[in-house]
Amino acid sequence: MSGRQKVIIDTDPGQDDAVAILLALASPELDVLGITAVAGNVPLRLTEKNARKICELAGKPETKVFSGAARPLVRPLVTAEEVHGKTGLDGPNLPEPTMPLQTQHAVDFIIETLMTEEPGTVTLCPLGPLTNIALALIREPRIAPRVKQIVLMGGGFFEGGNVTPAAEFNIYVDPHAADVVLKAGIPTVVMPLDVTHKALTTARRVAAFRELGTRVGIATAEMLEFFERFDESKYGTDGGPLHDPCVIAYLLKPQLFKGRECNVVVETASELTMGMTVIDWWGVTKRPRNAMVMRDIDHDGFFELLVERLGRL
Ligand code: RIB
Ligand code: CA
Repeated sequence: MSGRQKVIIDTDPGQDDAVAILLALASPELDVLGITAVAGNVPLRLTEKNARKICELAGKPETKVFSGAARPLVRPLVTAEEVHGKTGLDGPNLPEPTMPLQTQHAVDFIIETLMTEEPGTVTLCPLGPLTNIALALIREPRIAPRVKQIVLMGGGFFEGGNVTPAAEFNIYVDPHAADVVLKAGIPTVVMPLDVTHKALTTARRVAAFRELGTRVGIATAEMLEFFERFDESKYGTDGGPLHDPCVIAYLLKPQLFKGRECNVVVETASELTMGMTVIDWWGVTKRPRNAMVMRDIDHDGFFELLVERLGRL
């Protein structure tokens, strides 16, 4: 189909990653060239398996899934089983995957794809720590000008952090990788906690997935009911923030989001603020505006899109 957006999804499933993958696989506007797994929410041996479970749930076992970095560039791996459960995909009882894991390493796939596809046609969608993306840029710097754009979930500014008072999980886990990516000079859209915390999986919204009555709809409701409990108790809200699907929704309906070009720098030295995204929203520095940072979302429109698209699977 002509005009489809070519994307690579880099991910650490994770229930919210799973919904993002389902949204991408349900959307004909997107040509998912591959899904690359990274260690994050749970170790790599689980994130790569979970990515395949989701592709099979979507009825797309032909999707290419690759395994990537098992730990961050410099720091030890920090995981989030307290949020996602010990499998990383607690909630539904999904069968073990039968589709194959690709033998090529995720980083090599990212490089090969960018070096062979038409320059400026492939979008990278990181939904977890940025280790794979940074490794690809370090290994083959020539890919940087060939990337159309990066649309990533990570960081926070007025909202602060979720894993420390200062840092959001994806950036905190691998701040050095985030530093490499944000300094690569690639057009980058950032979906920080400031926007994802406005996309809450309220009871009514979770019910809308379940009322689809399909395997995907019911499994999505079960994933969200598990995933949201940690943030509901932490923030005292009806529902938890649905982070990663914001990345894919932006590709499909960018008008759902509002933000501005800002300078974004990552803290990689101080333990107190390690992984903090220092976002110059008010333009008080002369630092280059290296990212489009989103702050607002039409959250009703976002969930309408999600339910409509997942209903197609
Ligand atoms: O801080 C939220 C992010 O960390 C999301 O991508 C979630 O899946 C976890 O990876
Ligand atoms: Ca994630």
